[in-house]
Amino acid sequence: MADKLTPQQEMAVTGRGGKLLVSAAAGSGKTKVLVDRLLGYLTQAHDPANLDEFLIITYTKAAASELRGKIAAKLTEEIARQPENRHLQRQMQRLFLTKISTVHGFCSDLLREYAYKLDIAADFRVADENECREIRETVLSDLLDRAYEAAGDDPDFRALVDTQGVGRSDRQVPEIIEKVYDSAHCHLNPEAWLDKCLTDADAEGIGDAGETVWGQYLIRDLREYLDCQIAVLRQCAESADSCPGLEKPAVTLRDALYQLEQLRACGSWNDIAANRELRFGTLRFPTKNNPDPELTERIKAAWSACKEGLKKKLPGFSNDSAQVLADLHQTAAAQRGLVALVRQFDRDYAAAKRSRRVLDFGDLEHKTLDLLLGKSRSQPTAAAREIGRRYREIMVDEYQDSNGVQDAIFDALTREKQNCFMVGDVKQSIYQFRLADPGIFLEKYEKYVPAQQAEPGQGRKILLSHNFRSGAEVIDAVNDVFRTCMRPKVGGLTYGEAEELREGIPHAPLDDAVELHVIETRDDQYQEEADFVAERIVRMLREGTPVRDGDGLRPVRPEDIVILLRSPGSGGGYFQKALE
Ligand SMILES: Nc1ncnc2c1ncn2[C@@H]1O[C@H](COP(=O)(O)OP(=O)(O)O)[C@@H](O)[C@H]1O
Ligand SMILES: [Mg+2]
Repeated sequence: MADKLTPQQEMAVTGRGGKLLVSAAAGSGKTKVLVDRLLGYLTQAHDPANLDEFLIITYTKAAASELRGKIAAKLTEEIARQPENRHLQRQMQRLFLTKISTVHGFCSDLLREYAYKLDIAADFRVADENECREIRETVLSDLLDRAYEAAGDDPDFRALVDTQGVGRSDRQVPEIIEKVYDSAHCHLNPEAWLDKCLTDADAEGIGDAGETVWGQYLIRDLREYLDCQIAVLRQCAESADSCPGLEKPAVTLRDALYQLEQLRACGSWNDIAANRELRFGTLRFPTKNNPDPELTERIKAAWSACKEGLKKKLPGFSNDSAQVLADLHQTAAAQRGLVALVRQFDRDYAAAKRSRRVLDFGDLEHKTLDLLLGKSRSQPTAAAREIGRRYREIMVDEYQDSNGVQDAIFDALTREKQNCFMVGDVKQSIYQFRLADPGIFLEKYEKYVPAQQAEPGQGRKILLSHNFRSGAEVIDAVNDVFRTCMRPKVGGLTYGEAEELREGIPHAPLDDAVELHVIETRDDQYQEEADFVAERIVRMLREGTPVRDGDGLRPVRPEDIVILLRSPGSGGGYFQKALE
């Protein structure tokens, strides 16, 4: 039997008329909605679609094949319901023609087809990470050998090596070159991005260090920190004020608050540098008959956290503006040296790949952009329009894992028809180390209007708020955690009522289903955690703690239990041993 969709899911399945972003947590049916929407297109009475009119993008190859399986299952189900529908039956054959792939798989197919338009061999191979590593290492080592030989004539290179304080055999310089190269290639126009870095580095004509990009960053960061500390200390001072016996610490707190506020009000770099010596008094609490020991502990903790934090932040402002600008002038030469190396690396690496007839993942993305937006990256090209016309809709699963270049590819293909459907969850953004940019998702999340209010052609969003994998206990706990922790600075958005999850299908109630144990470990962190977890598991098994099974409950069995670690390496062995 088909699942009954929630009204929000229904809207995500049937909504038409503009780019659509579906945002929701794990288990809320995002992938299901994508599959149902696709089937909706195939079965609609007017102008039913063919499967191969869709481009379906997932983040991994495994996810792509799983999705293909889900579409096949849903199609089979639908054919059983409408056995006379010939159009649907034909879709089974078309399933194998349908592009369900990773962005890189899609780019690779496209580049083979259009190789004649781009300066690439149609029989290129895609180099895997190991091969790329090997080529990069050879190229970098040759590049640096040459740079060290020519260092006498290259003050910028010498400045780079000096500021890094490294010798010839050091790994640091090649690592920075690669890092900057990779960061540049996450931008639509890597060359322009590198140019911008150099403009930023050159603080020429700037009067106050606070106006440089780094100055702005440091001051913003300090102000945010001060705002937070002021709020916390103010709360402490208010509590102390209203607690007879804590008058003295209240005065000390007020004095510290005054100094923090003075510092917060500073406008220029020199102002901050001149006011950064704070003189916090000593908090003295009554040693006998303390009226509120718990409040005392809380205040002490906030106080020392504040002092610790300031000790880290304020030394950044120990030099005055003129000195900082002079230092930046020095650094600018090093940055020019670095950018020159990055550019040379780019050329050498490209040549090495060309001679092997390989492309790496970055090439797949950028050559596709060359094809779709041209070298200037301005307008969709004729090829982009031609390719875009093939698709009734482009559907992207796990959209939060896209980077700016990938997003530009989707956009180039859908800009005219606004036919892009994206599902994702910014809380599940786990590929930032591969330079995925959750900001892409968040920007649309902020900008798009709720689907009910959208005008034709306008970007729209739908939030799915029912979770179908978990019971109310887990959902409440998840809401509690994210409501408390998530805000624009941590996690990218505010976790408000609209973001909260609800139970999708009623489950048999369970008491005390969620526990949080904070373990203070002394020497061997993993050992103590592992012992604790093993002991807790043994107790659950002995007591036959109830778990859900279908509609009812039964005692827990070992195969119901999973231990999640940051990575198997981090202490997996300890857990195994503790359980034995
Ligand atoms: N309306 C619904 N009724 C019943 N089950 C549903 C409904 N929507 C989703 N599910 C089920 O919930 C589970 C999670 O769905 P999935 O699409 O994988 O979520 P997500 O992609 O958001 O993590 C799946 O087993 C799916 O079949
Ligand atoms: Mg999913």
